[in-house]
Amino acid sequence: MAFVLIGFMGAGKSTVASELAAEIGVTALDSDTLLEERLGHPVANEFALNGEASFRAKEEQLVCELLSDARPDSVIALGGGSVLSERVRGALAGHVTVLLDIDPDTAWERVHATPDGALRPLARDREAFRALHASRGALYEELADAVLVDLPIGGAARAVGALRALSAAPEGTRLLWARSASGEYPVLIGRGLIGECDEEQLGRIWPLDRSRSRPFCVSDETVAAAYADRLGDLAGTVTIPPGEAHKTLASAEHVWQALLGAAMTRADHVVALGGGVVGDLAGFCAATYQRGVPVVQVPTTLVAQVDSAYGGKTGVDLPEAKNYVGVYHQPAGVLVDPDTLATLPPAELAAGWVEVLKTALIAGGTLWDAVAAGGEVDERTILACVRTKLAVVAADERDGGRRQVLNLGHTVGHAIETATGYARYRHGEAVGLGLLAALRLSGQDELRAQVRELLIANGLPVTLPDTAPEAVLAAIARDKKRVSSHVPFVLVRAPGEVSHGCEVAAEDVRAAVAELAP
Ligand code: NAD
Ligand code: GLY
Repeated sequence: MAFVLIGFMGAGKSTVASELAAEIGVTALDSDTLLEERLGHPVANEFALNGEASFRAKEEQLVCELLSDARPDSVIALGGGSVLSERVRGALAGHVTVLLDIDPDTAWERVHATPDGALRPLARDREAFRALHASRGALYEELADAVLVDLPIGGAARAVGALRALSAAPEGTRLLWARSASGEYPVLIGRGLIGECDEEQLGRIWPLDRSRSRPFCVSDETVAAAYADRLGDLAGTVTIPPGEAHKTLASAEHVWQALLGAAMTRADHVVALGGGVVGDLAGFCAATYQRGVPVVQVPTTLVAQVDSAYGGKTGVDLPEAKNYVGVYHQPAGVLVDPDTLATLPPAELAAGWVEVLKTALIAGGTLWDAVAAGGEVDERTILACVRTKLAVVAADERDGGRRQVLNLGHTVGHAIETATGYARYRHGEAVGLGLLAALRLSGQDELRAQVRELLIANGLPVTLPDTAPEAVLAAIARDKKRVSSHVPFVLVRAPGEVSHGCEVAAEDVRAAVAELAP
């Protein structure tokens, strides 16, 4: 099994291949360089002399030879277009295919910063370059076992362990390498990750060395009963009753005491097994227990698998205000088994889908198209949501700017949860109502109507009966995002065009909340 790097020109495949190879202790192979040696002239000359078809045929032959002769642990960088060949795609089976993802503008700048960049046959016209990038994107994604985005110099070496873990994971598992200002971690997404792995496999896919750092599971009673025994040997398990009403300081104290009682040390780690409530609470307890121990997130709800398990926001609610006490604490890793969603009650699945809808409004593009079409949430959708969230967090870990877009629908949503005592609406249900208010404030009547229909189609509430707008407005006024006299809102111009930090007149907020009354 070799590590095979694919991706668009300018993604840094040769550089990353060299770094991975150095870490593993082998010499990297680069198909473009080897092809030029075989041809006896640069790729550009081959295009000029014999045309692209001739180049592709010779490239296909060489790459297939490289892949079939590859020794275990070798590292091979492929030319950007080589995966257009069906033979090459077939020859990738049995290897770990690693996509180095890059946006088209950065790729263009990088290619043209190299001495012969402007001579590259496929990099002469910027619009054609962009179109080529767009046309290849889906193919790269389809083939990738692992996706690495925007790695800093030297960063690839740190991902080697996670790439190796893929060989122990169930077939079809994908790896995303998450990055933010305070750290990096692997995200593994695969059916059977929790259900099918034996103790030995778990040891290999686990982001921490379980022989040195003992896992202590924090969960809720429902999830622990169903899944705790799938996590291999645990040094201890502590549970809370299920539900938002238990995301409290009292629950945190219960967890801290239980971890102390089980003699957990700073060398050990917490495993957050459950939905967003458990993830936020367990992450907070991990961040604060003995001033901080690592946490591995094992999300089991849709909310947690597409959103809350990533990005490091942890904390608890106060009766007066949601998520009011907390810290940033990035996970040591996230293990996502979509099979666990099979036991999730339909109402929880529907509520979780609202975070998918929110993410699609933020991302736009193919994710929005899929969600607006009302399709099933499959691993592809989960992966797309996670990639969207990770990209936002990578740009702004501490909510100073861009990350605030993730709060779309949450200002009113959180206020509804608080005003109704954290007992009446699921988080996703409240956020759905919040999205309707945000779209009203955005002046997007058509999109609001479309979102309303989607919510109804998923059996989600679109009105807020028996709740005085004043109670919601009072909770909005306490929102932790408040700056001086106003609470900033996230507004939407169109799917994929979302602005944060928007000031909105108090009477408009009042009208948007009042409009939710039946
Ligand atoms: P949750 O954790 O309360 O889970 C919902 C219910 O599903 C619970 O009763 C739980 O016992 C049950 N459950 C969980 N997994 C199950 C499974 N596989 N099978 C059967 N039952 C299962 O709620 P949630 O919707 O997952 O998360 C909501 C919380 O997430 C809120 O507190 C919200 O603030 C938080 N959140 C945090 C972030 C973040 O970035 N930290 C982002 C979004 C939401
Ligand atoms: N759920 C909001 C955020 O992660 O920033």
